[in-house]
Amino acid sequence: MKSTIALTAVAALAAKASAACWSESLGYPCCSSPNANVEYTDADGKWGVENGNWCGIPVPEACWSEKLGYPCCSSSSAKVEYTDADGKWGVENGNWCGIQTTPGTPSPVPTPDIEVKPGEQYTHSGNPFSGVEFFLNPYYVAEVDAAIEQMTNSSLKAKAEKMKTYSNAIWLDTIKNMHQWLETNLKGALQQQEFTGSKVLTVFVVYDLPGRDCHALASNGELLANDSDAQRYKTEYIDVIEEKLKYYKSQPVVLIVEPDSLANLVTNLDSTPACRDSEKYYLDGHAYLIQKLGVLPHVAMYLDIGHAFWLGWDDNREKAGKVYSKVISSGKPGKVRGFTDNVANYTPWEDPTLSRGPETEWNPCPDEKRYLQELMHKDFKAAGIESVYFVCDTSRNGHKVDRKHPGEWCNQTGVGVGARPQASPVSGMDYLDAFYWIKPLGESDGTSDTSAARYDGYCGHDTAMKPAPEAGQWFQKHFEQGLENANPPL
Ligand code: BGC
Repeated sequence: MKSTIALTAVAALAAKASAACWSESLGYPCCSSPNANVEYTDADGKWGVENGNWCGIPVPEACWSEKLGYPCCSSSSAKVEYTDADGKWGVENGNWCGIQTTPGTPSPVPTPDIEVKPGEQYTHSGNPFSGVEFFLNPYYVAEVDAAIEQMTNSSLKAKAEKMKTYSNAIWLDTIKNMHQWLETNLKGALQQQEFTGSKVLTVFVVYDLPGRDCHALASNGELLANDSDAQRYKTEYIDVIEEKLKYYKSQPVVLIVEPDSLANLVTNLDSTPACRDSEKYYLDGHAYLIQKLGVLPHVAMYLDIGHAFWLGWDDNREKAGKVYSKVISSGKPGKVRGFTDNVANYTPWEDPTLSRGPETEWNPCPDEKRYLQELMHKDFKAAGIESVYFVCDTSRNGHKVDRKHPGEWCNQTGVGVGARPQASPVSGMDYLDAFYWIKPLGESDGTSDTSAARYDGYCGHDTAMKPAPEAGQWFQKHFEQGLENANPPL
């Protein structure tokens, strides 16, 4: 086939620039080919090195081969028959065709190990998500790359590729993972910041309280609700986080604090002995971490408030106001910027089909938007909390899931990626700092193996996808369904 095609024509046209040269406006030359080795990726694009200098790797234009007189291949995963300076070529119906890559899709690579030292102290002012670049979580990118390897459908692959361009939170869910991921990613973000000159925000989830996940089983943690583990939480976990954050002082950081814990104190003390056992450690743990981490000027913290179908009812919201204001006061002089909702949940941002009534068990907040509006205006402000801003987790709430009851939380069928991470996403809601992806789509909510120690009955419900791996482990089917149902589409 190859020999029947006029390769010389391709070669003759190869000199024509077909790719957009974006780096010149930043003072760097373009690399000579869109296929140059990617040495580094940032929000501007992919960078290569030529003759010892950084160069911007030109972005292939959509259907770049048309300019050269060749059609585009019908699929971006067409077989590569030939590669030249213009791009990758396939063959369809006996003709060369240009294989399109998704413009702007970085192939994330480890940042070059350039020596970096933190600069001047950074201080958040206003919305921590505004005016900064969002750091791409390399661990997630690697998970998605491995997921793509398992796919055959090209349109699904293309959607998965796009997932790698969005930022999500880095979970410090054990002492070991904290050691592995905190400093590495702070350093990666600093390298990016030094290189681009733009501030780079990294979002971490602090998630290792003693007696974690007291009302469920799926995400039980390594530390138990006792004095010695509570001490370990302080000295081996929070103190280390403090030390690292103090060192990396010139970059913005957001901490999402202990999902589900305080919401459990609002609603589950009476029903669940394990929550009663955990209560003092949750309170003490929060006071400690807010005092220590809430005084760092470059760190903004959000406490977790569950979701609309947890604390949305009038009585729960009123109780919540008391619990959260007490916790925030206990952390003085540390400060809390606000609250996260819908973390690792599926509740839609807006669901106009629902209103207060029997169908919603008289919950006046049947979607996350109304939940924040109610909490914001009536309860948290009334409870005397000064700084009331929100970050809504939209990683998995784009499509209404199939759950029979909105309290279902485990690996729900019908999952779809929701709004993309962005600052100040809704006009008229100045108190909504961001939509952000906190639970990484594709990481399981809990195992469906009934013999596992952390098996929770919710992961066996009809609308929970099965077989599901342990919480935090990769769940390919759930990921693929999330891509298919993405809203807006990927
Ligand atoms: C798990 C954590 C995991 C996180 C993100 C939680 O449910 O308990 O281990 O890091 O989800 O996937």
